[in-house]
Amino acid sequence: IWSVDNSFESEENLRLLREAALWIKKGEVIAFPTETVYGLGANALEEEAVKKIFEAKGRPSDNPLIVHIAETHQLKELVADIPTVAEQLMKHFWPGALTLIFKKKQVVAPSVTAGLETVAVRMPDHDVARALLKEAGVPVAAPSANLSGKPSPTTAQHVYHDLVGRIRGIVDGGKTGVGLESTVLDCSKPVPVLYRPGGVTKEEIEAVIGPIEVDPALLAADQTPASPGMKYKHYSPVGTVYLVQDTAKIPDLVSRAKKDGKRVGVLTTVENEGKYEADVVVACGSRMKLATVASELYQSLRRFDDDEVEVIFAEMFPYEGLGIAIMNRLEKAAAGEIR
Ligand code: TXA
Ligand code: MG
Repeated sequence: IWSVDNSFESEENLRLLREAALWIKKGEVIAFPTETVYGLGANALEEEAVKKIFEAKGRPSDNPLIVHIAETHQLKELVADIPTVAEQLMKHFWPGALTLIFKKKQVVAPSVTAGLETVAVRMPDHDVARALLKEAGVPVAAPSANLSGKPSPTTAQHVYHDLVGRIRGIVDGGKTGVGLESTVLDCSKPVPVLYRPGGVTKEEIEAVIGPIEVDPALLAADQTPASPGMKYKHYSPVGTVYLVQDTAKIPDLVSRAKKDGKRVGVLTTVENEGKYEADVVVACGSRMKLATVASELYQSLRRFDDDEVEVIFAEMFPYEGLGIAIMNRLEKAAAGEIR
């Protein structure tokens, strides 16, 4: 673990980042912080290096990775075509939590794109990530640095918990900010298509380029998503998660599950935390500020694992703004919904 502190341009920090970057250049995998979640990075131009990411995470090989860059000029080496809408979006949202999909060039290692003709690229808005990427000098393919299926990591400790012994090292830059993964938008289509809601909202994108399309699979559970990663159950704690629309039902659900001999958890916010008598009650941010919910969601889900909770009842959030990304992750974590 290389711990990088706040005074991050210090000699000591730069030395640590150079060391981590050297491993990437040598074809090893390194976890590093971004503003969304921690990523597990390897040289995106080297097939053998990229394969190690899939091995470390236990990730299905049909699920493509996002390539991270530090400077816009790196994009031209990776993609065959940069549409005007993409240029506008990059101007507004890069660096930031927006991943754009382009037609790819052949230099991109085949595993990165899982055999697709397109490649996903983003420029993270995080000093440590950017410094590391600059030192590495190569585009870095990086999925979230969790074991496949687990909640994404928002601290270096989460990464350590999931991947110790499976990767070369972790750059510890503290807790990430946004807390949910980037928004994924396919710009290789005539009208851009939203594949994954995330840190940048649909409204924010449309304010810049006008109406976009939404992958039908995001709206209906019986459709196959265009983005391979969206089809897997995901972000799940060990316990079974139920989403509860009517929060007034939660106390009853809790006592019944307790009677069944289960260890019971409730995922709520600071507003309602006093209302429940479960074994573990986790207040995940405030409803008044959905950014705080996003930021704490994954660490909250992991708390239930730490406490060996078997059944989790989760409050729901409005399907608007950041709420859409929050609900998308909760739905993937959940086994079902109670009205
Ligand atoms: O915020 C983030 O995006 C984080 C940080 C580390 O940057 N990364 C991340 O990566 O969330 P990952 O691998 O967990 O999610 C990548 C998503 C998956 O759903 C994948 O299927 C989709 O992007 N994706 C990647 N390339 C694609 C492509 N060419 N076409 C369609 N979907 C693609
Ligand atoms: Mg992931």
